[in-house]
Amino acid sequence: MTAGPPTAVVTGATSGIGRALARRLAASGYRVVILSRDEARCQETVRMIRTTTGRTDVASVTCDLASSRAVVDVAKALRELLDRVDLLINNAGAIYHRRMETSEGVERTFALNVLAPFALTHRIWPLLAAGAPARVVMVGSAAHLGARLDLNDLQGERHYSGWGAYRRSKLGLLLITHELARRAGKSRVTVNAVHPGFVRSGFGRNNTGAFAWAIRAASVLAISAERGADTPFYVATAPELEGVTGAYFVRNRAVPSSSASYEREVGRALWAVCERLAGTVPFGPDPDVGAPTTGLGA
Ligand SMILES: NC(=O)c1ccc[n+]([C@@H]2O[C@H](COP(=O)([O-])OP(=O)(O)OC[C@H]3O[C@@H](n4cnc5c(N)ncnc54)[C@H](OP(=O)(O)O)[C@@H]3O)[C@@H](O)[C@H]2O)c1
Repeated sequence: MTAGPPTAVVTGATSGIGRALARRLAASGYRVVILSRDEARCQETVRMIRTTTGRTDVASVTCDLASSRAVVDVAKALRELLDRVDLLINNAGAIYHRRMETSEGVERTFALNVLAPFALTHRIWPLLAAGAPARVVMVGSAAHLGARLDLNDLQGERHYSGWGAYRRSKLGLLLITHELARRAGKSRVTVNAVHPGFVRSGFGRNNTGAFAWAIRAASVLAISAERGADTPFYVATAPELEGVTGAYFVRNRAVPSSSASYEREVGRALWAVCERLAGTVPFGPDPDVGAPTTGLGA
């Protein structure tokens, strides 16, 4: 793909909020690349977006974002496919009732909800810089309110509960958002987070038993995925938000996130852990990009 309409990359776009958002972005003039883990669902989503919007420039890259190695590959694929990215929506996320680890030995909630947005944003930073003024939108959650990070047990090795791990992961995502916004400096790439609302989607369906049942039962009170896409879409596209960075939006309004999400030392410590897990361990620095070319190292 070469210069033309603005380009949006949306993760987790085969279901729920991401799917509605990707379609809306395409309908609004973006060429859209979706990233999700299942090839058939990716293809079906691309077809749906094409037929409902009439756009032909919709593409997908299949990737298990919970794997840092796969994120290296997907970033490489994106760099081959695109010359710039105007908008990155880090939307993919999940809750895991039981503690599980990825093939790289990282707890899955942390890997998908914190490490993946960190790693993907880093690895495609040159594309975002080329698209500047560009935007990164992190799909967070009000579930972070009241959560605290235990830097000595980030991956729940000592104590794990699905809801607790999810809440902490969304706090971690906000800490990374604030740190990234700070480090992005004068790059003209803004980084903001949103809470989409309580949304009826595929969320939680990867679980079984009473946990999955409780999520399904509660979802009768939830808003549609289409409405859940409202705030991310607003933060992604509103002209009046040009230059706004490091903010957290709920119902199209910037509101303070929890005080824990502004703890600078915790954010820096988490950043260092993410750098180690995503950047140097276990696969070593990405030869194509590498940490220094992101300009986010300081
Ligand atoms: N639903 C809510 O009430 C709510 C509230 C606050 C925040 N959020 C956040 O909103 C975001 C979207 O959630 P949703 O409610 O739309 O849930 P969803 O319907 O389950 O959608 C999640 C998307 O992420 C993809 N995904 C999951 N694991 C992946 C992996 N390892 N690699 C690549 N893609 C993966 C899923 O792909 P598959 O199709 O293959 O499963 C799906 O496309 C999440 O970050 C969630 O935490 C949701």
